[in-house]
Formats: sequence, C-alpha cells, structure tokens
Amino acid sequence: MQESRYEAPKSRRKLVVGNWKMNGDRAANGALIDALRAGLEAGPEGGPDTDANGAAVALCVPFPYLAQVAGALDGSSIALGSQDASEYANGAYTGEVSVAMLKDFGCAYAIVGHSERRTLFGDTDERVALKAERVIAGGLVPIVCVGETGMEREQGRAEEIVAAQLDAVFERIGVAGMAASVVAYEPVWAIGTGRTASPEEAEAMHAMIRGHLAERDAAAASRLLVLYGGSVKASNAASLFGRDDIDGGLIGGASLVAEDFMGIVRAAVGTS
Ligand code: PGA
Repeated sequence: MQESRYEAPKSRRKLVVGNWKMNGDRAANGALIDALRAGLEAGPEGGPDTDANGAAVALCVPFPYLAQVAGALDGSSIALGSQDASEYANGAYTGEVSVAMLKDFGCAYAIVGHSERRTLFGDTDERVALKAERVIAGGLVPIVCVGETGMEREQGRAEEIVAAQLDAVFERIGVAGMAASVVAYEPVWAIGTGRTASPEEAEAMHAMIRGHLAERDAAAASRLLVLYGGSVKASNAASLFGRDDIDGGLIGGASLVAEDFMGIVRAAVGTS
C-alpha cells in the first residue's frame, strides 16, 4: 500500500546552515568557530542543545578553508558543507572541486544552484540537476536552492518559476533523490538586501513547494526539509521558523557574526 500519511510538521528537525560565501580568512574563521562552539556546545546553561532535540547546524565554507574548518569542528555536532560541487566525477576539469574531494574533507552537505551561481556563473537548471545528482551519488546531502527574482514576483510568476526550478532537479534525481535532499527557498530579491520575505509570503511558497513535491511522493515531501534564505537575522528568525512549512534557514551575512548566527540557531531550537 502506498504511504500517504502527511506527517506532523514538527517531526522535522530544524536545520540552520551558514553560507559564508566568499568571505573569511584563517584568523577570522578560527575565531568564529571558537565562538560558535563555545556558545552552541556549552550544554543546557551555556547554549541550546544542538545535538539531540535541538536544531542541526552546518557551515558551508569556501573550498580553501575546508581543511581548516574540518579541523576546528573536530568532535563538534556542527556539520561541514561546501557552497558548490562539480557535476563531474573527476578528471580534466581545471578549477573544479569534486564531491569525492568534499567527502574526503568530511563534508556532509553541498549547496547547489545558489542564485549567485545561477546568475553570475551560468549554472543552468540542467547543471544544477546534474550537480544534485552527483552530490547524492557521493553520499552528501545537496541543499538545492530555488527562488524567483523581484521582477518575476511582480509579474505574478514566482510560484511558476520556483516549480520549474524544482522540476528540473527532481525529474533527474527522482523520489529517492528527494528523500536525500534539502531544499532552500531563497527569493533573489531578499538575498543580501535586508528585505526579508514576510513570514506569510515565505510560508505560502514553502507550502507550495511541499505540495508540488507531494505530487511526486507525499511521504518524501512531508519529510523534506525546506529552508528559507534571504536576509534572515536573529530578530526575524523565530517568526519565520515558527511557520509549519519552514524548517530552518540558509544564512548568508548573519552567519559571519557569531552572536547573530547563534541567535538564529536559538530561534530554530525555540521553534522546534
Ligand atoms: P543573506 O544570504 O542571508 O546574506 O541574505 C542568504 C544566501 O544567499 O544564502
């Protein structure tokens, strides 16, 4: 019999992912990780429990710092991730970084299809799908980013654009791939702009995403983590994460400041 039960949203454990983008240096990274570990791992009095019932936390760092951050996170419950991955396995692809290399450094996640990759570096829907497929085959979890531009929203095409971006990926990776992925809804007009989608706008899109994917497989869609990204701050995180279909966040600017990022993690734990 086909599994069709729609699980209670709260059964999904929240996930907060920092996306450092092209920022950081060895000294700043070391200080940031030290502060995060002190604040997030200090136990019930010192910080939220990110191990058991709390939120899961990951940091997606620039490639050159994977080794440094992997070392600094040794023994930590904070997971490591990359901001991209090659769609190729290995070989003559100058400048590319393979999923096997990411795995070698202990990465658990790889962001694919971030809007900055799509708009500035030519990542098409097709390439994003190939990358997601490669990431899953390599045993990592792809964080598949989707989102409309301001213009597309004004034209009333936001849902259509996001659904098409999802279809391009999930046509290729199928239901098994969906079960192994995380989706991040990041409206392009909200990224780095200080203009966050309202909790209502974000929840409407998240519910659309889950509903759209439920047409492929209701059980996998009900378990899928759908993160929100775009100017998330400690001050607006709880109102976003409190919504039924928002399972955490993909955090850019605020992930570079320990107090700001920890405030967002606390909001995720508080709404779990
Ligand atoms: P932001 O970036 O939090 O700085 O808006 C989010 C992202 O691009 O992932």
